[in-house]
Amino acid sequence: MKALILSGGKGTRLRPLTYTGAKQLVPVANKPILWYGIEAIVEAGITDIGIIISPETGEEIKNKTGDGSQFGATITYIVQEKPAGLAHAVKIAQPFLGDSPFVMYLGDNLVEASLTNFLNAFQTQELDSLILLCPVSNPSAFGVAKVDEQGTVLGLVEKPKIPPSKLALVGIYFFNHNIHRALAQIEPSARGELEITDAIQWLIDHQKNVGSRQIEGWWLDTGKKDDLLEANRIILDTRLEIKVLGEVDENSEIIGRVKIGKGTKIINSTIRGPVIIGENCLLENCFIGPYSSIADEAILKEADLEHSVILRQAKVLQIQQRIVDSLIGERVELKVAPKRPKAMRFLIGDDSQIELT
Ligand code: G1P
Repeated sequence: MKALILSGGKGTRLRPLTYTGAKQLVPVANKPILWYGIEAIVEAGITDIGIIISPETGEEIKNKTGDGSQFGATITYIVQEKPAGLAHAVKIAQPFLGDSPFVMYLGDNLVEASLTNFLNAFQTQELDSLILLCPVSNPSAFGVAKVDEQGTVLGLVEKPKIPPSKLALVGIYFFNHNIHRALAQIEPSARGELEITDAIQWLIDHQKNVGSRQIEGWWLDTGKKDDLLEANRIILDTRLEIKVLGEVDENSEIIGRVKIGKGTKIINSTIRGPVIIGENCLLENCFIGPYSSIADEAILKEADLEHSVILRQAKVLQIQQRIVDSLIGERVELKVAPKRPKAMRFLIGDDSQIELT
């Protein structure tokens, strides 16, 4: 059994962060989204992993993620020259996959459920494919399945205007070698991509054995800011270990579940968990409220923050108002004069959003 993680694409819905970096490396609770997928795959006992990367962001993914040894896996990187669809990615991975069965995992998906039970079902029932489904309120944004009461998949359709059900296709799929036959037959869709949804439909049309399971627990597709904040909230809520390695002075108060990395200094501040703060940060005269993640080397002074993600080396200085529901990119500087400002000066990247409410 092998795994294929798709980590290419342009990440347009997470701009401006994705102008300079891969969307799969945006951190959730200070860990790249992609690594949650790798860990889930390794936990299910699969250690031979191929990762599809794009020419634009591939090097960054390689440099950060390495050869897989830190996860107990072997990683092979495969470059997809252009984002020609999920099925196209599987096609170019054929030399890596060979005839092996594999799990295909979209690198921006996060699920609560372990993959082990699904893998067991796929193997013991000798399925050609197992797809995972989750009821959603906005099925038109996903691939959608129609299934009968036994879970037999009757049909699939990609981003339908009129969805046949509320069951969205989760970005985790199990396949055996027959998927390659399907890939050789399908044509690009209206959006010009080779769709994995069409390849699975081909399997169904040719009487292959396609099973489905509804996943239990949460599923997050972290493609947009609000989804990312939600993923951050859930991970901090459910998986944060309490550990304080940095220095906390006697005027500071740490309440609830908080993790603070080494080299970080907390001065005259209140941190109310769940909160994660990375390494070598400086926080002075701050209030950091629940569901906040602050990455390494960030500096916050006189800042009041809640339900927000601050990336590496960002500076948040002398902001009197509470910052909420925010995603602040690497090396961003936010500064407001202590008194009521007379003017505001901005140097803000394309597609940035600022709301003074
Ligand atoms: C892709 C698939 C879609 C699936 C979704 C899950 O959509 O095409 O069928 O439901 O991933 O995340 P995309 O995120 O590429 O729009």
